[in-house]
Amino acid sequence: MNICDLIYKKRNNGKLTEEEIRFAVSSYVSGGVADYQMSAMLMAMFIRGIDKAETFALTKAMVESGKVCDLSRIEGPKIDKHSTGGVGDGTSLVIAPLAACAGIIVPMMAGRSLGHTGGTLDKLESIRGFRVNISETQYKKQLQKLGVAMISQTQNLAPADKKMYALRDVTATVDSIPLIAASIMSKKIAEGADGLVLDVKTGTGAFIQKKEDCEELAKLMVEIGENCSKKMDALITDMSQPLGNCVGNALEVKQAINVLKSTGPKDFTDLVLTLTSRMLILGKVEKDIQRAKARLKKLLNSGAALEKFREIIIAQKGDPRVIDKPDKYLPKAAGKCPLAAKNAGFINSINTREIGLASVLIGAGRTKKEDKIDTGAGFVIYKKLGDYVKKNEPLARMHYNHSKNVEEAKNRFINAYSITENKGSYPPLIYSEIS
Ligand code: URA
Repeated sequence: MNICDLIYKKRNNGKLTEEEIRFAVSSYVSGGVADYQMSAMLMAMFIRGIDKAETFALTKAMVESGKVCDLSRIEGPKIDKHSTGGVGDGTSLVIAPLAACAGIIVPMMAGRSLGHTGGTLDKLESIRGFRVNISETQYKKQLQKLGVAMISQTQNLAPADKKMYALRDVTATVDSIPLIAASIMSKKIAEGADGLVLDVKTGTGAFIQKKEDCEELAKLMVEIGENCSKKMDALITDMSQPLGNCVGNALEVKQAINVLKSTGPKDFTDLVLTLTSRMLILGKVEKDIQRAKARLKKLLNSGAALEKFREIIIAQKGDPRVIDKPDKYLPKAAGKCPLAAKNAGFINSINTREIGLASVLIGAGRTKKEDKIDTGAGFVIYKKLGDYVKKNEPLARMHYNHSKNVEEAKNRFINAYSITENKGSYPPLIYSEIS
């Protein structure tokens, strides 16, 4: 087999066989296929498209390029949650301990901030000492003991995806539905869980904004998972405004602690309860959503889920004092300033991607993989869709440590809000379920 022939075939709209895809992927990982050849293949796939069989084969080849984590010795239903990324979406920080309290084993291998969206690992690292890179042995021990671990992907997990994603990132081939589906699912399948609840975001702050495209992506990911014998569920949820009231790493950890104390924002809490209850159903811990939600609310109200979060922090060498005194022990910003509304009226729409990019400008996210995150920086949001605001009333407060980019971030945030005289209609938090 020759990679040039395969690129030629795809370029001319041919269908690649499972064997051909496996050859291309494994040769790329072992060095027999060069970056420029794989880039050409990815561009051909992007433009010509790949069908379902090719997508399944691509996912499988990427899973097989590394090690699949074997969690079979750990008793209990192993269910994870994955979000396609958003602004203010720190739900994993709450869902992982909450689901574990209800009897789910949560093997959470999370990601870092990417573009305008935040990442769970960066948020966790705003807790002093918290370690996200732990050995596989340690990871399994923790899962056995606590029922939950929140770590970075191990080195050998779907290495083909890592290399191919790096190419896609710089060759304008990221936003292809089958390539995204194969990329996400290869990592999730290699992670070794029995099931997965997907939170596919739609709206101005999502990677894929159109609802129809999100539905296609969700369906495809569900099919890929089921093809690999995973229990799957997916929700299409709203990202046309930031979730909750905080954007930025330490701020989002503080908000998560409030949610774990049942004093968090309603939209955030509702989404947490919905996604976690679906994990309970997939894991056969509960039979119906209402009962699952009632059980989860009890675990929040009793403080059990908060205690589980404390146990995770202790197990992963973080400073557990953040639980009781987040204001004292989480990183803070030296400067704060209000972001005032330009005119009076109702918040009609929010360009959420711009809010995410404004947070990157003040260091809460990164533009390059190597960038260091300023964990204290971010926004506390006061006004959301449908709220009334007076002229010059604060929409939010910006927390920052460095004056560089502050003016640009401020303008970007304020201009992301569209304020109109009349109240409009606003999107629901949850659009639909794909299962
Ligand atoms: N996240 C991934 O892991 N892969 C993609 O292709 C896009 C987003």
